[in-house]
Amino acid sequence: MRVWDPLLRFIHWSLALFVTLSWFTQTGGRFWHEVFGYATLALAALRVVWGFTGPRYARFTQFVRGPRQTLAYAGAVLRRTEPRHLGHNPLGAWMILALLAAIALVDASGWLYTTDRYWGVEWVEDLHDALAYVLLALVALHLAGVAFTSWRQRENLVAAMIHGRKRPPSAPEAG
Ligand code: HEM
Ligand code: HEM
Repeated sequence: MRVWDPLLRFIHWSLALFVTLSWFTQTGGRFWHEVFGYATLALAALRVVWGFTGPRYARFTQFVRGPRQTLAYAGAVLRRTEPRHLGHNPLGAWMILALLAAIALVDASGWLYTTDRYWGVEWVEDLHDALAYVLLALVALHLAGVAFTSWRQRENLVAAMIHGRKRPPSAPEAG
């Protein structure tokens, strides 16, 4: 079944690429670091717009759940009884919001550091650095979550993010 639309997949792999490039250009020339950094900001913004305007499985309303349902899902994971989700599961959904927010904050602090007023101000540089490490930690958790869910659902979620298709539901299942 087609689940992930082409723009969603394009944004995903471009985000992964440009966050990585931003990370590896943190020292040395500032020019490319800022170009790659702004690319991540543009992509994150596009993803937010797509979350309100895109097709079904791209929409935040399809996968973002409140604390009660998210905790219930987490509890089910611990009991190994969690339902399969054709779209993002509730824990993955909060990870997506966290990743997008972290990217926006890293970029905003990076931009702040380039302004005349805050250039060379130590706490701004430290903030940018610290936020970048928060983002790195979230990406690591994201990859662990993808690996874990792929294993639990016996489905290659990375491949699904490449070709866009997932196994259709065999029994009634959540979203
Ligand atoms: C800096 C690196 C990365 C960032 C910022 C990132 C961010 C995201 C975001 C925002 C989504 C939500 C997709 C959407 O609905 O638009 C997502 C989903 C996903 N990402 Fe990443 N990602 C990164 C790296 C990776 C890598 C390296 C892989 C694979 C090895 C990967 C595999 C996936 C998969 C499989 C999903 C879908 C999860 C599901 O089925 O619910 N990501 N990622
Ligand atoms: C995902 C995006 C980004 C990541 C992961 C990232 C990460 C980092 C890291 C880890 C550093 C090293 C901090 C230190 O030296 O203590 C750094 C430095 C810096 N970043 Fe970013 N950054 C990103 C985006 C941006 C953006 C959008 C801008 C500005 C427009 C920016 C401007 C800077 C500047 C000016 C420095 C100092 C460079 C230097 O001292 O030569 N960054 N960044």
